Amino acid sequence: MRKKVDFLVIGSGIAGLSYALKVADHGKVCILSKSSAEETATKYAQGGIAAVMYTPDTYEKHIADTIIAGDSLNNREIVELTIKESTARIRELIDWGAAFDKKDSGDYDLAKEGGHSEPRIFHHKDSTGLEIEMALLNKINEHPNIDIHENHFAIDLITQHHLGVELKRSDKNICCYGAYSMDPLTQEINTILAKTTMIATGGAGSIYSHTTNPSIATGDGIAMAYRAKAVVENMEFIQFHPTALYNPNENPAFLITEALRGYGAVLKNINGEEFMEKYDERASLAPRDIVARAVDNELKLSGDDHVYLDATLINKDELIGNFPRIYAKCLSINIDIRRDMIPVVPSAHYVCGGIKVDEYARSSIKNLYASGECSSTGLHGANRLASNSLLESAVFSHRASLDALELAKTTDHCDEIPDWNAEGTVLNEEMILITQSLKELRSIMSNYVGIVRSNLRLRRALDRLEIIYRETEELYDKSILTVNICELRNMINVAYLVIKMAMQRKESRGLHYSLDYPREILNGKGGDGGTD
Ligand code: FAD
Ligand code: SIN
Repeated sequence: MRKKVDFLVIGSGIAGLSYALKVADHGKVCILSKSSAEETATKYAQGGIAAVMYTPDTYEKHIADTIIAGDSLNNREIVELTIKESTARIRELIDWGAAFDKKDSGDYDLAKEGGHSEPRIFHHKDSTGLEIEMALLNKINEHPNIDIHENHFAIDLITQHHLGVELKRSDKNICCYGAYSMDPLTQEINTILAKTTMIATGGAGSIYSHTTNPSIATGDGIAMAYRAKAVVENMEFIQFHPTALYNPNENPAFLITEALRGYGAVLKNINGEEFMEKYDERASLAPRDIVARAVDNELKLSGDDHVYLDATLINKDELIGNFPRIYAKCLSINIDIRRDMIPVVPSAHYVCGGIKVDEYARSSIKNLYASGECSSTGLHGANRLASNSLLESAVFSHRASLDALELAKTTDHCDEIPDWNAEGTVLNEEMILITQSLKELRSIMSNYVGIVRSNLRLRRALDRLEIIYRETEELYDKSILTVNICELRNMINVAYLVIKMAMQRKESRGLHYSLDYPREILNGKGGDGGTD
């Protein structure tokens, strides 16, 4: 298939869908989604979306909380504009049909999470993401200008490279003309020519053995953009969520939302003793990097497999009323959260860095935007504040739409782009080569590039990654493409960026903690971070 559209959108989470809705009145939109449309990280978001709505909350307080959580590596201008636009974007989601919980008074029932000085999290019980995703998809399905291609996998962005031009990352005139995508059912590779392209492909938690992310989170957009010579930054800042349900054979891990701690649940060790005060005066509601590191340290010291989250002191009706999904999930494995403590462990959750974009979500490549988890706007700094991700997606997709609508008026398609050339490739009949490399990749990342790092561990990670990188590139060059090999290649690419950027950062900052550049883990008492 060869197709021409005005707006190509890769990804059907909050970032892709909210952007598509905004440009669709002005041209043809094609959305690619590599799984079913709703299978996104957005769908699994629990806690909610942060925004300033009522006093005594203020934009200034939310801005300050974001920068404190981000260990001051944030871009202040970007933080300010994002937070100041939060109220408008929330109202828009509500107008599109997202029903956030209200109190009897009719005001929104705002929750609190780690690092927030005020309750400001809009939520729909503990299924906020599903509520937003379905509201957006309902709107998308009604729009005559939007074609959504489910189970279509974007392989590579199209640039002058595909016209035979050699490109360098420092080139200022690299231009995106669309993308090649694969229909895994027919194995046909499509050429989609677009005036503007939006990458909204989400995160990359799948590069780790244990993650809260759905299996679609393989970093495809970041890898595609990097291969196309876009600037990618801040990849060392991988956020581990401190409280994934400890249920050894379940992957992705089921998340136990931070909002539960906002309601009063506290972290305890295996002996039922609280430990967070040792690490931070905000205790269980400290920013996520601090809590995850504290849990990791406790596990290293005790040798236990998990700690506990104790929600038993919360009013039982409120507990079930506000967290029905967590209650049902835990009950399904014989944990009654009204009476039993919940076993939890940290799990890879969020990529703070990604494709570098400006205040209109423009990447360093012309006609190419990025929004959502795959992008790096400067909002999060060295550690994302809880529930700022959905907000960032809504704000930057809105801003991208303003720019793309103007750009599309003066941009033409590039008709000279050739179709995909699959000459000389054969079917790879040895799936074991791919599954084994994937296991090795995840083991490298989990063992050497986790919550606590060191120069030695990072060097070892890079050396081992280089071996599977070479093997995979060889396999890729001679194989008929499949989603599995493309995803593996993308994950290796993203892992490389995480390791390289971690090696370049000669300090412990936010989520990047290195034993070679120690910083106190324990509140005022120091700590060695244990081993990983
Ligand atoms: P996603 O929603 O992940 O969508 C990515 C899309 O890209 C999918 O449609 C996928 O199919 C598509 N895609 C990817 N690669 C390709 C390809 N090669 N070709 C075609 N399509 C492709 N954040 C908050 O702010 N609040 C929360 O409460 C919260 N809770 C969370 C709970 C969990 C369990 C998880 C995993 C994350 C949570 N987050 C939360 C983070 C937040 O959900 C995500 O960062 C956000 O939803 C990302 O949205 P997105 O649109 O960028 O990507
Ligand atoms: C959670 O509900 O704890 C996740 C919130 C987030 O990742 O922002």
